[in-house]
Amino acid sequence: MGVGLKIGSPKRNKRLQTGWEGFFPYYAGFPELFVRDILESAELRDDAVILDPWNGSGTTTYAASQLGLKSIGIDLNPVMIIVARARLLPPSEADHLRPLAATILAHLRESPVTLTDEDPLLAWFQPAAARVVRSIEQNIRRTLLGSMTKSPDGIHLDRISGTAATLYVALFAACRRLAISLRSSNPTWIKLPKADDDRLDPTAYAIAHQFAKNVRGMSKALAAKQLEEEINGAEFTAGASTIQLSDTATMAIPENSIDFVLTSPPYCTRIDYTAATRVELAVLGPLLKMKPRDLGRRMIGSVQVPEEAIKMDKSWGPTCSSFLAALKKHPSKASDGYYYKTHLDYFNKTARSLIRVTEALKPGGRAIFVVQDSYYKELHNDLPAILTEMGARQGLSLSGREDFHLRSMSDINPGRKTYERPTGATEAVLCFVKTNKAARTTPRSKKGVRRVRSRRR
Ligand SMILES: C[S@@+](CC[C@H](N)C(=O)[O-])C[C@H]1O[C@@H](n2cnc3c(N)ncnc32)[C@H](O)[C@@H]1O
Repeated sequence: MGVGLKIGSPKRNKRLQTGWEGFFPYYAGFPELFVRDILESAELRDDAVILDPWNGSGTTTYAASQLGLKSIGIDLNPVMIIVARARLLPPSEADHLRPLAATILAHLRESPVTLTDEDPLLAWFQPAAARVVRSIEQNIRRTLLGSMTKSPDGIHLDRISGTAATLYVALFAACRRLAISLRSSNPTWIKLPKADDDRLDPTAYAIAHQFAKNVRGMSKALAAKQLEEEINGAEFTAGASTIQLSDTATMAIPENSIDFVLTSPPYCTRIDYTAATRVELAVLGPLLKMKPRDLGRRMIGSVQVPEEAIKMDKSWGPTCSSFLAALKKHPSKASDGYYYKTHLDYFNKTARSLIRVTEALKPGGRAIFVVQDSYYKELHNDLPAILTEMGARQGLSLSGREDFHLRSMSDINPGRKTYERPTGATEAVLCFVKTNKAARTTPRSKKGVRRVRSRRR
């Protein structure tokens, strides 16, 4: 692979999700081993700073911290900020979790909360159950959120302590577990109950029990991690990590300050990245500065039509331009309306974010992007090629690429197809180097780009 990096499979592997890792099973993450291999083989200086501008569940920041490297993780979804913070909890905190959970649960009876009619938990739970979940949440807030997190302009979720974040994750997982009957065929997706009577109605005992069980499990997994580190005799100092709640397109990262970027940008597959975390967002309801619907609109990959009109920009490159032109002309319903507009929104946000990421990178710094292609009807949305062209415009030169073939459900069970297109998807690992100059024209030639064999898995 170009630039001498060790590139393993970016596909998540269930077998690797055990122990502490098993508590962070969030959508669209790449495995820790994949990140660790890359960071180790990158031979970075001890003072290097790693950035993941779409940090999600925080695999990059977690792996960097395990290797003693400094890192910054950015995400716009507050749920992901909490998940990424919790993941960084030092094993030495394992002992504190259970007594804290016991105190929080003991306060349940002493200080019951009154729910407001607008509480978003009411969309999921019957009032009595929603009140118990909110009481646990409020007790975590009262017990653990200090002056760093609370300030006159509201609560800064990205300053939440690792312990508080871990207890929130235990509560998120409890709600997901209790909502198991609402799961769809996509395991990350929970359907909102259609009618009031369909709302979940677990007993107070069931909710408290599930929360306490999760905390116990997390504490045990963390203690096991500590023991493993002691047995391995690793003189281990975690690298400092900053997790920031921010839009990548406006993130406040100083120019030329980052040595290495490792990330997986939101895909253009009509995934609403907030919808997969709707229950968690309901738990965080009183702490959110933005309504989930507005948050969804700001996400890259939003399924809502943008409020402002967006025009196609030639600087997005020829592959993007011809894909958008074909999409607009497509005879299927809403192609030239809804679908064209949401795709424009996707590329506009991605291009703006890429500018910020490139500015943040030091000249000569490397950026690794894991990107998946997709199809609109039979039209190939070649996102790896599009990002390569966009990058070249901004001074990110492609130094290597490795493709992995992803099987989809339709590979296993082909069924009737309406449109001619290959099955599965290609997940590409793109390796860029920041050059001093941005290209004026997008290079069409792939000269200098080594295409490494495509692997099936
Ligand atoms: C493909 S996921 C990243 C997964 C991550 N590599 C992991 O291991 O969990 C993309 C992430 O981008 C975030 N995102 C979407 N739009 C964003 C924006 N405008 N600014 C910052 N983050 C955004 C989503 O919340 C999501 O967590």
